[in-house]
Amino acid sequence: MANHVIIKNRIRKFNKVIKVSSDKSISIRSILIASQAIGTSKISNLLESEDVINTLKAIKKLGINYEKIKNTYKIYGYGLNGFCFKKNTTINAGNSGTLARLILGLLVKSKKEVKIIGDKSLSKRDFSRVIKPLRLFGVNIKNKNNLMPIKILGTDFLRPIKYFEKIGSAQVKSCLIFSALNTPGITVINSKKSRNHTELMLKFLKYPIKVENKKKFEKISIEGLKQFKAFDYDVPGDISSASFFMVLTLLSKKSSLIINNVNINPSRIGIVTILNKMGAKIRLKKRRLYNGERIANIYIKSKNVLNAVNCPAELNSSAIDEFLIIFLVAAKANGISRFKELGEMNKKESRRLDLGIKFLRLIGIKVERDKDNIKIYGNPNLILSQSFEIKNFLKDHRVFFLSCITALTLGGEWKINDKDSIRTSFPNFLNILKSIGAKIN
Ligand code: S3P
Repeated sequence: MANHVIIKNRIRKFNKVIKVSSDKSISIRSILIASQAIGTSKISNLLESEDVINTLKAIKKLGINYEKIKNTYKIYGYGLNGFCFKKNTTINAGNSGTLARLILGLLVKSKKEVKIIGDKSLSKRDFSRVIKPLRLFGVNIKNKNNLMPIKILGTDFLRPIKYFEKIGSAQVKSCLIFSALNTPGITVINSKKSRNHTELMLKFLKYPIKVENKKKFEKISIEGLKQFKAFDYDVPGDISSASFFMVLTLLSKKSSLIINNVNINPSRIGIVTILNKMGAKIRLKKRRLYNGERIANIYIKSKNVLNAVNCPAELNSSAIDEFLIIFLVAAKANGISRFKELGEMNKKESRRLDLGIKFLRLIGIKVERDKDNIKIYGNPNLILSQSFEIKNFLKDHRVFFLSCITALTLGGEWKINDKDSIRTSFPNFLNILKSIGAKIN
């Protein structure tokens, strides 16, 4: 079967209610944390995407069994560091930086060496951000140039560390929290703010973890070597997946969409804040709390006039995976939008800042770049009629989603390659688009 899609028509007006796939960050964390709990955890509505399936395969290789019964995954944990595996075990993290980085934190006590590998995209990503602090705990890590493959051998002589996580990376923070679980004493991580699902899940499990809010960072203290019991968890929808449908609605004519049951953790809703600053009027209704996380239904309508935004860098972390699609809104907005300090985008599944700029120029938008800061000159009258082919984007799922939403809102004839990239995070993407009227071949 062809691995591309053809889009030749803009989407017609729609008024629909949808659900998007479950949250990827929470799905991965729920599996990894269940693998360390004592007893049988039951996770329902787990995202069944490649990154998450690779996480299940990883714990299985490390001796943790699981099974799927109807809509629920049962995970049979043996407690902290309850892994049991053969010599020469290799874990393939595929495309997932989250899995590769977080699992390292759970292997800091392993008696046998484990090798972590990944796909072409992951093999280009820098691991010094976790290798450096893990070595401070006393762990042995072998690798070349801070790239995969990475070999990790644990130690019985772990020591708690005090570390300043300055990137604002939840992957780094969570890796270190996992390492701290296995380390005697109290580990302190001063962390630039980033998504906090790991902390919330551990708190929900009554694990002794303390988070103090400081002005520019959070001080996280973790007491090591405490056991916790298995748990039940129902994974909510992913705001990162919802974001593409939010922008589809916003840039279409006379349409409206309700996206039910989405995680609206404040550390994730930068996109809502930014789009509302641009005049979007997105509403979060039926707000509820679920095991420390916040959930809501998202209401969004089309908007004829959108304003440029001067996006504060403080919002970067809470919208880090959404900037590509936010750039598209800036392309249609009235005025010049400014985004700052977006260097982290180039450390994702592809060099997303570079690709985002290339993409905007391809559709005729003027972009000025000064290092990691960009200015996007919006054109509210932008309509496309040419042919476009999108290829060579390292199969980055979010570039694929962006291309589809652009085609469906701005027009033109599009051939978008590497359709199978959607399996990474949002296998239902094309089906949901079709269910609200998109014509995609
Ligand atoms: C993630 C954190 C973010 C994000 C990634 C998922 C997570 O990465 O880009 O898609 O689940 O912790 P960083 O923490 O490196 O910014």
